[in-house]
Amino acid sequence: MDLTEHSFIQIFFIVLWIMMPAYLANTFAVLTGGKYPIDQGKMHSDGNRILGDGKTWSGLIGGTLGGMLIGYLQINYGNYFIDKLANSSNYDFWGEHSLIIIFLLAFGALLGDMTASFFKRRSKLNRGDKSPILDMFDFIGMALFLTLIFDFEWLKSWILEGYAPIFTLLIATPILHRGVNIIGYKLGVKNEPW
Ligand code: CTP
Ligand code: MG
Repeated sequence: MDLTEHSFIQIFFIVLWIMMPAYLANTFAVLTGGKYPIDQGKMHSDGNRILGDGKTWSGLIGGTLGGMLIGYLQINYGNYFIDKLANSSNYDFWGEHSLIIIFLLAFGALLGDMTASFFKRRSKLNRGDKSPILDMFDFIGMALFLTLIFDFEWLKSWILEGYAPIFTLLIATPILHRGVNIIGYKLGVKNEPW
């Protein structure tokens, strides 16, 4: 992935494009979720649920598959759109192991969300309680961490391209996260607008 020839705004769109499987994984989890809690209803030694009823197998699996479906559609049918948005002729967004990368982005997002729930339950926050900073960055952090372990060169090839990618992630992630959740709340598929 070579971003050297691109402007700030082009990189902005390309970064959002690359991260789309991670951004949308949780949206799919909301749609498919709610069945078979991963912690099986069990309590931690502190007397609170390990993860809570908001983290289920149906959400984890549906969210991972949904995020991967988005990535698959992007890889196979998305070039036209990203070309229009970013005027990019470089379509090698997810590298040579693209299917593994989009899996890691989608699954990593849900793993990050789950890890955050574990810590939220440890600090006595109930399911759905607000934890602004954690909720906004948990998923993107773990998604990037998994791709870093698997293929550091791929991650480095775009995320360390000046300050534009980091800036995009820091600024756009909370806005997108909040935006998608408000839509989900208005549509009635999500219990809280965060
Ligand atoms: N969901 C799920 N399984 C997951 C992730 C999400 O079933 N692994 C579903 C649940 O129905 C959850 C909804 O998506 O209520 C919204 O997700 P999220 O906001 O992450 O969960 P919360 O209910 O807010 O729970 P927590 O406080 O643990 O974040
Ligand atoms: Mg929540």
